[in-house]
Amino acid sequence: MRNKPRKSSFSIVGAISFFVLIAFTMQVAILVYDYIIKRTVNKNLIAILILIMIIILSIVVTVIDVIRRKIMVERPVKRIINATEKIASGDFKARLEITHTYDKYNEYDIIMENLNTMASELSKSEILKTDFISNVSHEIKTPLSVIESYAKLLQDDSLDSEERKKYSKILLQASRRLSDLITNILKLNKLENQAIATEYKKINLTDTVAEIVVGYEEIIENKGIELECDFDDITLITSSGYVEIILNNLLSNAIKFTDKNGKIKVSLKSASDGAIIKISDTGCGIDYETGKRIFEKFYQGDTSHAGEGNGLGLALVKRVIDIMGGEISVKSELNHGSEFTVVLKNAKEDN
Ligand SMILES: Nc1ncnc2c1ncn2[C@@H]1O[C@H](COP(=O)(O)OP(=O)(O)OP(=O)(O)O)[C@@H](O)[C@H]1O
Ligand SMILES: [Mg+2]
Repeated sequence: MRNKPRKSSFSIVGAISFFVLIAFTMQVAILVYDYIIKRTVNKNLIAILILIMIIILSIVVTVIDVIRRKIMVERPVKRIINATEKIASGDFKARLEITHTYDKYNEYDIIMENLNTMASELSKSEILKTDFISNVSHEIKTPLSVIESYAKLLQDDSLDSEERKKYSKILLQASRRLSDLITNILKLNKLENQAIATEYKKINLTDTVAEIVVGYEEIIENKGIELECDFDDITLITSSGYVEIILNNLLSNAIKFTDKNGKIKVSLKSASDGAIIKISDTGCGIDYETGKRIFEKFYQGDTSHAGEGNGLGLALVKRVIDIMGGEISVKSELNHGSEFTVVLKNAKEDN
C-alpha cells in the first residue's frame, strides 16, 4: 500500500470558522446586553434578559456544532458504513468516491481508499476462486465421462479379452488422472497456505537427484528416449521433499513432451552458495506465447497432450521454488526442445 500524506480530519479552516462564529455570536450578545442595560433599571428584566441571552447563545452554539458534525463527521461515516455493509453482504463492486485530491487526504479519505483497495482485492480473489472451481470441475468431468463410457462398454458380454484389457487400461488411466488432480490440488493448497512443514537439512543433493532420475529410467527406456546425466558432487542445505516435487514434475514433463529417439539430459552443477539443476529435452518445445503462461494453474499449452495431466505441475514447481527463494527459467525452441534451469540456494538449517 502506498504511503499517503496523513492529514488530520481536524481542519484549521473549519476550526477558525467555528471560532469566528462563536466570537461573533458572543459579541452580538454583549452589544445587545449593553444596549438594554443602558435603557432600563429594572433588575428583574435584566435577569430575565440574561437568561434569554444564555439560552439563545447555547442554542446557536449547539446548532453550529450539530451542523459542523453533520458535514465533517456524520456524512463521511455514513458513506463508510453504507459501503462496508455492501461489502459485508458480498457486493465487492462497491466503491467510495473520494472528493479530496490526494495531497489533501484526511483520515476519512484514507479509510475510504483502504476500503476501496480491500473491496478490489476481495473481488480479485473471488474471480480467482470462481476460475479455480470451474477449472477443477472441468478437469474432473473429463476423466469422469471417460470412466462412465468405458465402464458401460465393459458391460458388453461379447467383448474379447484384448478389448477388455484395452478398456480397463483406459479406465485406470482416467482414475489415475483424477487421483493425480486431487493430489496436486491438495499439495498446491497446502503450499499456498504454507502448511507443508518444510524441513531444511544438509543433504547430499547428488544422491537425491540420482535416486529420482533412476525412478524414471524404465519409462524413459521404454519410450525409446536416450538419457544423459552429468552430476557434480554437491551437499546442500535444502528440503528434499521440495527437490522431489521440482524434479518429478520437470522430468515427467520432459518425458511426456519428447518422442521416441529423443534425448533428455539432466545436469547438476555447483554454483556460488547453491546448485544449478538443468533438465533439457529434444521434445516438441514451447512457443513464445505458451512460454509466458506455463507456470499458471491449469494452463496446458500442448493440446495433443492435454489428456495427460491437468496443468498443475509447473504451478507447483514455481510455488515451491518461490518458497525456497530459488529461481526457475526456461529456454525453448518450438519443435527442437526445451531446457528448464533451476537455481537452488543453501537454506538455513532447521534445528
Ligand atoms: N518439457 C516441456 N516441453 C514442452 N512443453 C512443455 C514442457 N514442460 C511444460 N510444457 C508446457 O507447459 C504446460 C504446463 O506444464 P505443467 O507441467 O504445468 O502441466 P501438464 O504437464 O500439462 O500437466 P500436469 O503437470 O498437471 O500433469 C504443458 O501443458 C506444456 O504445454
Ligand atoms: Mg507436468
